[in-house]
Amino acid sequence: MIGDKKIVFSGVQPSGNLTIGNYLGAIKNFSRFSEDYKTFYCVVDLHAITVRQVPAELRRRTYETLALYMACGLDEKKNTLFVQSHVPAHAELGWMLDCYTMFGELSRMTQFKDKSQKHSQNINAGLFTYPTLMAADILLYQTDIVPVGVDQRQHLELARDIGMRFNQIYGDTFTIPEGYMSTDTMKIMSLAEPTSKMSKSDTNQNAVVYILDSKDDVMRKFKKAVTDSEACVRYSEDKPGVSNLMSIYRAFTGKSFEEIEREFDGKGYGDFKMAVGEACADGLAPVRDEFARLMADKAHLEAVMKAGADEAAYFARKTMSKVRRKIGFVN
Ligand code: TRP
Repeated sequence: MIGDKKIVFSGVQPSGNLTIGNYLGAIKNFSRFSEDYKTFYCVVDLHAITVRQVPAELRRRTYETLALYMACGLDEKKNTLFVQSHVPAHAELGWMLDCYTMFGELSRMTQFKDKSQKHSQNINAGLFTYPTLMAADILLYQTDIVPVGVDQRQHLELARDIGMRFNQIYGDTFTIPEGYMSTDTMKIMSLAEPTSKMSKSDTNQNAVVYILDSKDDVMRKFKKAVTDSEACVRYSEDKPGVSNLMSIYRAFTGKSFEEIEREFDGKGYGDFKMAVGEACADGLAPVRDEFARLMADKAHLEAVMKAGADEAAYFARKTMSKVRRKIGFVN
């Protein structure tokens, strides 16, 4: 708690163009906490270097990710927005928690297994201890709630385990966080292969809708989206393509599945796909405009980062002095 407010923390990697999956599944939910919680939202550049990055691109994307947070509705006066590497306590606590995390636990992480397959030339130690750094991010702020996509559930469980283990050894030190997985939007799937998740690194550019896509791009991608041969807009497990489009439409319009089924009763997929494209493009337009405005003013973004890091460091320091004392480091 800070004052009478519970604490929310989440992080997003500056590793490429964010998709509507990132937007609907995570970022859009962030702003709903701003009023009633003390919120920390972090651009996790230290996590990004677990895979090889081009320096100039990493730097640009760090600005872009912050600008995107803000464009998605996060007011820098109501939320602490900052860059992970600007607060050295993340790396420091990350190392300490490495010593309370088991090799076996990290070996079981499915994201590690996936990533080591994908980056088989660079299975570095950071990729392995990635979840411990994430635990440090969370525990450093005595976080109560962590809004994340469902793919991060296993990492969050581990963060809880590490926190509980530390508390068991040293007495109450960390708040044990709860995950907040948005259920109303769920997972957004690929438009080309609707049985797998929409991924920002998909090589098929028609499969992925990016937050910053132009209206033309959005419309083209939805027009090409894979459906099925039934020609009936109906939510069903055996209709992954249509169901995915319905989820996206619901997320942008607030309509329920029943309402959507009624709206497109007797109409073909062509009309439906156009409607989904329109709703998505309309929903993204203000975000895109605001993003462009913010990116044109680097000095302002830097001021936001600086203020955010100062604020975050203040709270991080409190936890770190507690942790150092408990472990037995000389003050
Ligand atoms: N691993 C998260 C992801 O890829 C990003 C992240 C890093 C994070 N640290 C975090 C998310 C702390 C929530 C809390 O999506």
